[in-house]
Amino acid sequence: MRTHYCGELSAALIDQTVTIAGWAHRRRDHGGVIFIDLRDREGLAQVVCDPDRVEAFKTADRVRGEFVLRVTGRVRRRPEGTINPNLRSGEIELLAQEVEVLNPSLTPPFQIDDDNLSESVRLENRVLDLRREPMQKNIRLRHRAASAARRYLDDNGFIDIETPFLYKSTPEGAREFLVPSRLHDGQFYALPQSPQLFKQMLMIAGFDRYYQIVKCFRDEDLRADRQPEFTQIDIETSFLSEEKIRALMERLVRHMFRETIGVELPDPFPVMRYDDAVRDYGLDKPDLRVSLKFTELTDAMRDVEFKVFSGPANQTGGRVIGLRVPAGGTLTRGEIDGYTEFVKTLGAKGLAWIKVNDAAKGGEGLQSPIVKNLHARAIAVILERSAAQNGDLIFFGADKAVLANEYMGALRQRIGHERGFVDKGWRPLWVVDFPMFEFNEESKQWVARHHPFTSPKDGHEQFIDSDPGKAYAKAYDVVLNGWEIGGGSVRIHRQEVQQQVFRALNISPEDQRAKFGFLLDALQYGAPPHGGIAFGLDRMVAMMAGAEAIRDVIAFPKTQRGQDLLIGAPSPVTERQLRELHIRLRGAGQ
Ligand code: AMO
Ligand code: AMP
Repeated sequence: MRTHYCGELSAALIDQTVTIAGWAHRRRDHGGVIFIDLRDREGLAQVVCDPDRVEAFKTADRVRGEFVLRVTGRVRRRPEGTINPNLRSGEIELLAQEVEVLNPSLTPPFQIDDDNLSESVRLENRVLDLRREPMQKNIRLRHRAASAARRYLDDNGFIDIETPFLYKSTPEGAREFLVPSRLHDGQFYALPQSPQLFKQMLMIAGFDRYYQIVKCFRDEDLRADRQPEFTQIDIETSFLSEEKIRALMERLVRHMFRETIGVELPDPFPVMRYDDAVRDYGLDKPDLRVSLKFTELTDAMRDVEFKVFSGPANQTGGRVIGLRVPAGGTLTRGEIDGYTEFVKTLGAKGLAWIKVNDAAKGGEGLQSPIVKNLHARAIAVILERSAAQNGDLIFFGADKAVLANEYMGALRQRIGHERGFVDKGWRPLWVVDFPMFEFNEESKQWVARHHPFTSPKDGHEQFIDSDPGKAYAKAYDVVLNGWEIGGGSVRIHRQEVQQQVFRALNISPEDQRAKFGFLLDALQYGAPPHGGIAFGLDRMVAMMAGAEAIRDVIAFPKTQRGQDLLIGAPSPVTERQLRELHIRLRGAGQ
């Protein structure tokens, strides 16, 4: 039907007759001559329709935006002064001999090159939205990233194996999507949150190295970096230590960035212990581009008069944190109030601060609503540990550690970006040595920090029963510029340890059998030591594309409310379908 892509036409084809096909991007009538910019996936070409060619001209005259055309003509150099250096085909144009309308189009709801569209308009009209250049680029970037991952994994002996989507409901983490069974009244499949246990069983089955680029399903609250169905590069390998697994996986990430966007990531990635990440940055996925760091002050605030500090400092699980803002002395009261409001939205009770006018003068040289309630020793510790310079400002968070970490971590990120304490470029990081368990205050139970199949660090088995909070795991996350792009662990390969962990999670022996009997059985038939990781492909590609939300690198994403506005999902079903599935609706709100 065509000889070239529109975007491929170039000066090399001058005087040749070619046929192109694509969408009428723009049509301009210049007093007798009609110009049509024809668009296909490779770019634009300018078509010129001269009234001399009566038929072609007549057809061109009725062309409107997004009509699908086929044009045959002669490539010629554009006249001086009309050359467009921004287009590959910008030096030439196609003098049309024949113009054929392959399909007309309704007037689209927006110009295809409009960059100011609302998300809902875009998602409702996703087919047209995907025609836009940034979306074409993102989706093709995604393809390149996935291909690069496959090439690396294929070259390193990993075998692509598919695993079921109709899985079983198991208490592993996020809420699951359930699928009613027609053949088994009252029973359900669950869509997998990840292929975790299948990949472990593939290791027990002897495949040694597995991968899959696979959809995972989680019925969670959605955010910019979370979709209810998303894609993992899921990987598992046998007989490798944690360090060897990390080295192999780190090379995968470097390979993907190099092949996809030509970026050379640091080699090796720095490694940070979970406890250190939380101590210095308040969270387990620090954005290392931001240079600001916390100052630990808890131990030095136990005996100060200021109750806001001494309270949390003396409470188990309490924490007092300083955050030094270099040259922050220039912050106005209004700006400080703005930051205070910001942390309050995250649950803070306030945001104390000190401006350091003259550090040499101790308390005298400071400007602050709180120094009068701090004794000289406490002030000296604050200034020394934070390495405060004249002209700096220090913010303070004091509360339960979990809360203070969260809002001071968010404040660090915000101030870092607003006041220019950010490096450009890529800052990957391994976060390692996570606690195995975390105490859930609501359910008053221990829950797995990664998932219940994660191996304790050597020697930590002993804490699982006696003091779960002390047990650390052979778990690791890859963080890039503050995004968690992957996470994995060495797995438990001994049945008794697995049962011990289930016990700590308060899963009764009956439930262990009912939910995980298949795993406990398989573990008894010679399970090899094994471990792996899963990367969030959507997140990696979003970062490569510079997109704010992973929706921009997914062809057909869901909204924040889990809807597909293009096809209209979810949607009601008929009474008959429900009956076949043995389901009766309870009616709204019951
Ligand atoms: P985890 O739950 O950490 O590990 O998931 C791995 C990676 O998947 C990405 N991710 C998501 N991306 C988009 N939307 C979501 N809702 C979403 N949830 C997770 C993140 C995350 O780092 N089976 C284990 C892996 C293992 O242990 O090997 C697992 O699923 O980038
Ligand atoms: P107050 O004693 O409530 O007037 O607070 C004195 C200063 O401490 C104010 O600047 C408050 O914003 C700040 N503040 C109050 N509670 C906290 C807290 N939990 N953490 C940090 N600063 C606080």
